[in-house]
Amino acid sequence: MFKLKLEQRFHKLSSFESIKVMSQTDVEKIEKPTTDPKDIAPDVQLKVVNLRKYFPIEGGFLWKKKIADIKAVDGVTFEVKNGETLGLVGESGCGKSTIAKTLTFLHKPTSGEVWFRTGRDEEMIDLRVLSPKALRGVAKDLTMVFQDPAASLDPRYTVMQSVLEPLEIHNQVDDSDKYAVVRSILLQVGLSPHHAYRYPHELSGGQQQRVGIARALTLQPRLIILDEPVSALDVSVRASIINLLIKLQDELGFAYIFIAHDLSVVRKISHRVAVMYLGKLMEFGTVDDVYDDPMHPYTQALMSAIPVADPTVKKERIFLKGEVPTPIDPPVGCRFCTRCRYVRQKCYLEEPELKEYDNHKLVACHFASEIKAGTHVLADELIDAEESVDAS
Ligand SMILES: Nc1ncnc2c1ncn2[C@@H]1O[C@H](COP(=O)(O)OP(=O)(O)OP(=O)(O)O)[C@@H](O)[C@H]1O
Ligand code: SF4
Ligand SMILES: [Mg+2]
Repeated sequence: MFKLKLEQRFHKLSSFESIKVMSQTDVEKIEKPTTDPKDIAPDVQLKVVNLRKYFPIEGGFLWKKKIADIKAVDGVTFEVKNGETLGLVGESGCGKSTIAKTLTFLHKPTSGEVWFRTGRDEEMIDLRVLSPKALRGVAKDLTMVFQDPAASLDPRYTVMQSVLEPLEIHNQVDDSDKYAVVRSILLQVGLSPHHAYRYPHELSGGQQQRVGIARALTLQPRLIILDEPVSALDVSVRASIINLLIKLQDELGFAYIFIAHDLSVVRKISHRVAVMYLGKLMEFGTVDDVYDDPMHPYTQALMSAIPVADPTVKKERIFLKGEVPTPIDPPVGCRFCTRCRYVRQKCYLEEPELKEYDNHKLVACHFASEIKAGTHVLADELIDAEESVDAS
């Protein structure tokens, strides 16, 4: 139990310490980027190209050797614009946290490119090719808030020490300014200055999460990755933290990647949404397009589970059958083929690309247009029709 807590603590530290993971030798091994940074639009804060994160599985009795890979993130491409919130949704185990940890270099990417706009010249920089020292410099612009507020704070530190830690690592605070800086940040996140001298166990869950957000804010980052920041909190506290995040974004203009299971919360805070399944993106678009007009059968099933407040509105609930395949050996064709109600033979053989549809929406499904137009019948109906033809 104690070991687990320690591991949690290690993972839940901000990205600053973790950057040691990338050694200079690792950096030298990285393949050349295929993206020209000049082609990236000026309003893009982060661009991820074909990102992969595989976790090796080792076997063998005396000599350990790699026997397979867990393909947690398997070729994901997306962008986050300045000042926007990108919601990241999908079932448990689809790779959301792995993306978050790979972008903050808690995990080293297996392959792919991570471009980030930073520095005085506002240049797009490929983070994979930076030395560990340069990466630590960028880390102040790219921070992370974790799910479990209690485990993400050091129990030996007061709130003041926790909030100051990132500033001290980056030598950005004078001793004389310390209290004023902490006071102003605590007020920004809705805490009072007297909380500065408390320890994490003397705070409620909501207050602990506010301290986590305060820590992320101290260096005035450009992008904050929030991995299930409100999942451990009750509904009323959840609403106040979401409102706080929206207010801070309006005031300070940074971007968020917001990961959560609660689709209503994601809708409230996000401008665009990415839907993930088994390590890949299935659909990507504006929040209204994805929620009100989902095109991918997986997104349709996810959205059908959102409760509707109006009792007069009838909504079909789509229940997904079957198991999620293992990320060690995902299906060769469409990743969703084992559970899709529209599946056809092509889906088992060919992997669908993410293709662009109306309003710049991206969907990875061979039959997205036909499903949207209502001309693609369900697989069960097709089988019934074929059986009745055979019988007659
Ligand atoms: N350090 C690790 N070593 C090996 N496998 C890992 C590791 N971290 C994650 N995985 C595996 O990678 C896959 C994706 O995990 P991840 O934590 O990213 O999912 P998630 O979408 O965040 O799920 P949840 O919604 O439950 O948090 C899972 O199959 C998981 O078991
Ligand atoms: S490609 Fe086939 S299996 Fe995949 S979502 Fe589309 S219809 Fe379903
Ligand atoms: Mg997760």
